[in-house]
Amino acid sequence: MSSSILKVAFFDSGIGGLTTLRACVSKATRLLKSNQKMVFYYYGDNFRAPYGNLSEEKINLYVDEAFKSFLSLDVDAVVIACNTVTAVCIDRLRKEYVFPIIGVEPAVLYAAKRLGNKKKEILTLSTRATFLSKRFNCLCARVRENYPNLILKNYPCDSLAGEIEKNLGKRGFCLPDILPKSSPSIVVLGCTHYGLVKNYIERYYSCPVVDGNDGVANRLFSVLQECGKLSFKKSVDFVDKSDLPLKGKDIRFTVDNFFKVRTPPFKMKKIPKSNFCKKSRERKPLVTPTLKIAKNCQISFIGESKMVNKTKYEQMFAWK
Ligand code: DGL
Repeated sequence: MSSSILKVAFFDSGIGGLTTLRACVSKATRLLKSNQKMVFYYYGDNFRAPYGNLSEEKINLYVDEAFKSFLSLDVDAVVIACNTVTAVCIDRLRKEYVFPIIGVEPAVLYAAKRLGNKKKEILTLSTRATFLSKRFNCLCARVRENYPNLILKNYPCDSLAGEIEKNLGKRGFCLPDILPKSSPSIVVLGCTHYGLVKNYIERYYSCPVVDGNDGVANRLFSVLQECGKLSFKKSVDFVDKSDLPLKGKDIRFTVDNFFKVRTPPFKMKKIPKSNFCKKSRERKPLVTPTLKIAKNCQISFIGESKMVNKTKYEQMFAWK
């Protein structure tokens, strides 16, 4: 295969999809041959996040704006790094757009396989839109049918994604009291934002916490392979066990340590003070700073943002 540049776009309502992106980037750096290059576009619609309590109509409308920009970027595939958007609109998007679309779903089946058909509880935390969606409820019905002894408990964490958007990066940020009291054997993270506080949730319930990110990474690369866009050695190990660099209560977040970028350092140009909005909901368009992750991988951030956390946005975006 001759030298090629693959373009894959990621979409999330905000920063949660970075957890999915990271699993995919980590796999890419291990799988790509020296003549293969990948550009990852990350579209976080931080301006309108969170999506979890919006109507299906609004979610569909906002997602189409992003997908139209993916068309003009001529991407090879799109990853919906958002359980909510996957639950609400993936079927329609697959019918209407030409590129392959990979979604992320709560890993309930994976958790059930791990526990077996025993009287144990799987607690799935998600947004309300995912919790109410037909797609998620069909998935749970299938799992219940095959594992009748398991207790599936689903809980909509209405404010959690929004709290994470607002507070991540703040020193000593502690999750408010929005996690349900329960004694699960496994917790399934049904929202990509929750992956950013995975360690906290693990400690809170003292049990394993799983997400669908490695599954998405596997699926992305097998789809690219099926479409003839990439080829790999058969012996390649698809499983990546990297964990989030979040320790203790101090879950400060930086984009470069999140992606473990050491060289070259990720430098953002200084954002002039005048670019910060007085009203946090004032909208600003974003240009796309590029983060070089490895010799053959780079990330470009696109999308629009509301300024709720200066440090985070300085790291992720540049302002026009
Ligand atoms: N990160 C998203 C998800 O996986 C959406 C969270 C939100 O915007 O409410 O569901």
